Amino acid sequence: MSGTTSGVLSEARNGAMAGWVERARRVLPGGVSSPVRSFRGVGEEPLLAARGAGPYVWDLEGRRYVDCILSFGPLLFGHAHPRIVEAVQRAVADGSCYGLTSRGEVELAELLLSALPFAERVRFVNSGTEAVMTAIRLARAATKRNVLLRFEGCYHGHSDAVLVRGGSGLHALPDASSAGVPPGRVADTRLVPLDDLDAVADVIAREGDQIAALLVEPVPANSGLLLQRPDFLPTLRKLADSCGALLIFDEVISGLRVAPGGAAERFGVAPDLVTLGKIVGGGLPVGAVAGPARVMDLLAPLGPVYQAGTLSGNPVAMAAGLASVQLALDPLERAQLDACSAGLEAALAPVCRTAPFSLTPLFFGSMFWLWTGDGAPPRRADRADALVRRRFARLHERLRAHGVLLAPAQDEVGFVSSAHDRAVAQEFAAALKRSLADLADDATLRSPD
Ligand SMILES: Cc1ncc(COP(=O)(O)O)c(C=O)c1O
Repeated sequence: MSGTTSGVLSEARNGAMAGWVERARRVLPGGVSSPVRSFRGVGEEPLLAARGAGPYVWDLEGRRYVDCILSFGPLLFGHAHPRIVEAVQRAVADGSCYGLTSRGEVELAELLLSALPFAERVRFVNSGTEAVMTAIRLARAATKRNVLLRFEGCYHGHSDAVLVRGGSGLHALPDASSAGVPPGRVADTRLVPLDDLDAVADVIAREGDQIAALLVEPVPANSGLLLQRPDFLPTLRKLADSCGALLIFDEVISGLRVAPGGAAERFGVAPDLVTLGKIVGGGLPVGAVAGPARVMDLLAPLGPVYQAGTLSGNPVAMAAGLASVQLALDPLERAQLDACSAGLEAALAPVCRTAPFSLTPLFFGSMFWLWTGDGAPPRRADRADALVRRRFARLHERLRAHGVLLAPAQDEVGFVSSAHDRAVAQEFAAALKRSLADLADDATLRSPD
């Protein structure tokens, strides 16, 4: 991948970024359109992106980074994959939206359903947030119950019902919960810790006949990568069945990533409803809910559950999504992705062992987490202590200085794409080595004796 700069970049060189950050802060709250992008989580100044290609992103001053943010998940094949670019260009030339159903929706739905054997219908929306909102509403209508059981530290977007003790950017707020959510909106939400199936069983024993749905990220990845024990999903399935609740897998991150059929395929556990986002739009705004006809056909116009969207099923987004999902279902592309993930893990692991503090690279396919705590990585979303966060922040800053971009918060995971080949893995490993050398004498990162 060449390091040539586009016109935009050369114009913007020489300290232009600080000016843009300042301008952004004057007109966008916190200078951003989504909070984690502020880099507050690591105490750094944010950067503005100028362009991306394959595994790399360039900032406004022309610096190139190995990108492991990858837009927080959609870019399973790297930036500007030629098939996605071409599909978008072709689609937009035919008009950007119609307010009518178009072929792309049908084709994308058919393709998705081929990977989701438990599902018969798909409704397209514009984001993961909307997909989860719709799934919850459907589950409540299908069961004629109201209670939602969910897990602390999982993130399900920013609709009211799920903004209590959540993951991702919510970690920056007191009690990981949002202001502005009337208590009534979450009165029917029950929260249990991850890695505690007894707590789930207790809630079900108490009020199972009120529970509409168990909602879970099947591979929790919004409070770090919290890999659950093997019995987690099978037991949730049994517990949901035991009380007649629906099981909703929020696969906005894991869908199409951990297997073509997501975690449902990977772990062999079928949910009742699945929510998708990110990869399903190939970098354009698409979310989806899928499930059996008996539940999905409760949606208007067939049924009484209302959900709609001016831009839902947008033809340009569908074209990007179709190209992205075709790639995600292509065995050769998946083999390349697996090789890239394994290659990065193999390149980083020996370097992590030389770190001057405890540093564990935890990989699950093409997702990873650099755990900076002493001891084994956690399974629950307990807030990491100040030392763990300080180590991550210092490491993040050094890696950035050496040309590798990790998501700017200790509790966000990193992503690998099928463009993160062996050379990119070596580049990351070399940057990590230099970063750890820079931190070798920092006494504030050592464990207390
Ligand atoms: C598991 C999960 N669900 C839902 C969402 C919300 O998706 P969106 O940001 O597209 O609204 C996210 C976003 O990161 C997510 O990780």
